[in-house]
Amino acid sequence: MSFSRRDFLTTAVVGSVSLGLQPEASAQSGGGKRPIIVCAGNGYDYLEEAYTFLKNGGDTLDAALKVVKGPEDDPNETSVGLGGIPNEEGVVELDACCMHGPTRRAGSVGGVRNIKNVSLVAKAVMEHTGHVMLVGEGAERFAVAMGFPRENLLTEKARKIWLLWKEYHSIGDWWGPGISDPKWNAPVKGTPQAQLWQIKYQRLEEIAANLGIDPEWRASAIHKVLFPPTGTIHCSAANEKGEVSGCTTTSGLAYKLPGRVGDSPIIGAGCYTDQDVGSAGATGSGEENIKIAGAHTIVENMRHGMSPQEAGMDALKRIVRNYNNDMSKLQYMDMTYYILRKDGAYAGVSLWDGYSEHEPHKIAVHDGTRRAEKTVALMKGYSQDYPPALGLPK
Ligand code: GLY
Repeated sequence: MSFSRRDFLTTAVVGSVSLGLQPEASAQSGGGKRPIIVCAGNGYDYLEEAYTFLKNGGDTLDAALKVVKGPEDDPNETSVGLGGIPNEEGVVELDACCMHGPTRRAGSVGGVRNIKNVSLVAKAVMEHTGHVMLVGEGAERFAVAMGFPRENLLTEKARKIWLLWKEYHSIGDWWGPGISDPKWNAPVKGTPQAQLWQIKYQRLEEIAANLGIDPEWRASAIHKVLFPPTGTIHCSAANEKGEVSGCTTTSGLAYKLPGRVGDSPIIGAGCYTDQDVGSAGATGSGEENIKIAGAHTIVENMRHGMSPQEAGMDALKRIVRNYNNDMSKLQYMDMTYYILRKDGAYAGVSLWDGYSEHEPHKIAVHDGTRRAEKTVALMKGYSQDYPPALGLPK
């Protein structure tokens, strides 16, 4: 976060909202090629294998699941599956859902502990139960019954980030070094904001060092403590015949209340697929996406004739509408939609251009050529970290 980003926002955004849609991105408009897979940027590394599988006649949902299983298995990916940042009690809780276009079925799990590949558990709910959604303990027991191994999902890295968060917020509780610690200082009244931030940041660095957080990822851990992230992965796939499927999986919002479920396992919010139309999914502010049933809204928009990009932009405008265009609030939220029409046309759209100039939002695509493309943003500029940290020096 920097002052320049904030300044840029206040001058740039209002105009772009009133202008409405930006021009269609040429690479993302019109009829597309098939087979095709689209996903969030964190699926890029897994696209090659999934594309080969799909091209060789593999099922569309299985191809999408191959992509999202990559980040689920990766202990260094802190927003999905193994290694996900835990809830406020230090427990990793995962959400996922999937929809299979050709058989018009769906499966979903929410708040699952101890099972890494929740996207596959969602598929098992779809294939092996008469239900659509299982949550919590019941979902975990079902997964074990289906042969999924129970394992500890809290990696050392994620545990230390959580501990750092816990100790940093220890002013009002007993976590973190207490008053007898030689480095403890009484708060000084009237300290200017910037100086307060310096003190807080220094304290965070000290706690991080005490916890043995590697200097190499200390700054990133501190950022995750100050601004809890919501990472996720969505993937949609269409084969040569035009069959289409989608899935979404996540560890959800960092340090969430135990039992909090975001948009990812909600059929119609985090993911929606209709064999007659196409598929869509989301990453970003789960609560905002649930309120507009984002993925379903997008698929319905396409059903009524909108292009993938227009359909996604309309969904984003509904989020803006929910806040009466109030940029003082909208600057603190973000949303990206990954949209695939059954004819292979696709779009990646987002509320903002990205988190910074160096971190634009991207959609990863494979239709014979693997690539990552910048999304088309509804509003020019970059979303701000939440919660607001006014006065935080660069
Ligand atoms: N979009 C992921 C979540 O909010 O949980």
